[in-house]
Amino acid sequence: MFSRAFSTANHLLNNRNLQRLAVTQLRKMSQQVLHSNVWDSDPELFALIQEEKKRQLTGLEMIASENFTSLPVLQCLSTCLHNKYSEGLPGQRYYGGNQFIDQIERLAQKRALEAYRLNPEEWGVNVQPYSGSPANFAVYTGLVEAHGRIMGLDLPDGGHLTHGFFTATKKISATSIFFESLPYKVDVETGLIDYEQLAKTARLFKPRIIIAGISCYSRPLDYKRFREICNEVGAYLMADMAHISGLVAAGVTPSPFEYADVVSTTTHKSLRGPRAGVIFFRKGVRSHNAKGEPIMYDLESKINQAVFPGLQGGPHNNTIAAIATTMKQATTPEFVEYQKQIIANAKRLCKGLQDKGYKIATGGTDVHLLLVDLRNVGLTGAKAEFILEEVSIACNKNTVPGDKSALNPSGIRLGTPALTTRGLVEKDMDQVVEFIDKALKLAKEIGTKSGPKLVDFKKTIECDEETKKKVADLRAQVEEYSCKFPMPGYPEY
Ligand SMILES: Cc1ncc(COP(=O)(O)O)c(C=O)c1O
Repeated sequence: MFSRAFSTANHLLNNRNLQRLAVTQLRKMSQQVLHSNVWDSDPELFALIQEEKKRQLTGLEMIASENFTSLPVLQCLSTCLHNKYSEGLPGQRYYGGNQFIDQIERLAQKRALEAYRLNPEEWGVNVQPYSGSPANFAVYTGLVEAHGRIMGLDLPDGGHLTHGFFTATKKISATSIFFESLPYKVDVETGLIDYEQLAKTARLFKPRIIIAGISCYSRPLDYKRFREICNEVGAYLMADMAHISGLVAAGVTPSPFEYADVVSTTTHKSLRGPRAGVIFFRKGVRSHNAKGEPIMYDLESKINQAVFPGLQGGPHNNTIAAIATTMKQATTPEFVEYQKQIIANAKRLCKGLQDKGYKIATGGTDVHLLLVDLRNVGLTGAKAEFILEEVSIACNKNTVPGDKSALNPSGIRLGTPALTTRGLVEKDMDQVVEFIDKALKLAKEIGTKSGPKLVDFKKTIECDEETKKKVADLRAQVEEYSCKFPMPGYPEY
């Protein structure tokens, strides 16, 4: 439609008498783009968005860090707030016109503190980080000098990239390039964090910050123990509660706030808000000196300045509004029930898989995720992830304690926040277990045909007629089942 209109306009421009008419027509068209729906202005893109919507709706979403956010959050994200620049903090902006933006950011701050039952005299919060990774980088930037020392749980043991990940040959995360990091580990046998080893290495390494946070660990962290180790070596305790921030808000898992100096989080995982990051920091008295005089925390300005102007520019005000409404939701009884159900579902999923002979790292779960150790099944994490994706179950391959290679992990991580949002309860987990078990058994069968290599395994699924049919049959069952459960958001996109 547009190309025809443009050629008409060009034709008119060649005729001097009709130039004015052509300009008017072009103006009208540019107005049309501004005011039309995306499905009219960009059908090619919109078709892809709809495909993704269909994928989300028809599949079982079990990636532990994902969720389906609420309609109010999606509505906040596409408001006029997106248009506004507001560098700085409420009341101290570099641009004018921020009277309402200030109120929205203050509301988000107030509600964030309320959601975690924090006293504003003791805790402050910055709601501007664009996501979890920049939030963590801002904490280190504010509190650790360049090449200062940090310690976090190793990535293959369930930590996150931004806790300082590096390998023998490469510094992978910028948090290991600009800071010196040393990992602590889980015990290979139990899968539990080895606090003794952490204490020993912390005494030698003397980090400025110890990070208590996980991306794949199915047991509560012992924040008290972390605090003791930090006190002994003079380190800040930073809790990265990105994965469990919904559970913490609902009070269904231990809270890091009693012990931590700083708490960072994402808001889009179990908390079910927009894709963003938040940093909480202690205020007031930190300790007392030998004379009994108070030593005050000085984290507020360090962290605020690290976020802006240190690392970021203009805050994403639409997202900050979405954080505000998420934090409001997080204080409701419905939200507490939701978080309880996430854990109940994870426990039932775990039990169902164990009953079928699958080994679960640490022997179970107390949170929203579990790590299936596939070494006794004879499948790699990559093959398991691939077959599950083929039958419309989304999860991710993951290293398990004792894995020799991070590149070829032996497990899969399964999470329940997204399925629980869609209304699945314990009895539905039994059906999910059946689907997962069928898929993994099918993968074993395919392996006997394809041989051990992943490329051949994938080729067999793609080309072998008998295999294709079996995979398609199971996918149809999963999709039919999944479609029964509603999803929040806009119906079509
Ligand atoms: C514990 C933890 N911290 C930080 C992050 C980073 O968050 P983002 O992906 O929003 O940068 C993640 C993401 O998975 C995480 O699991």
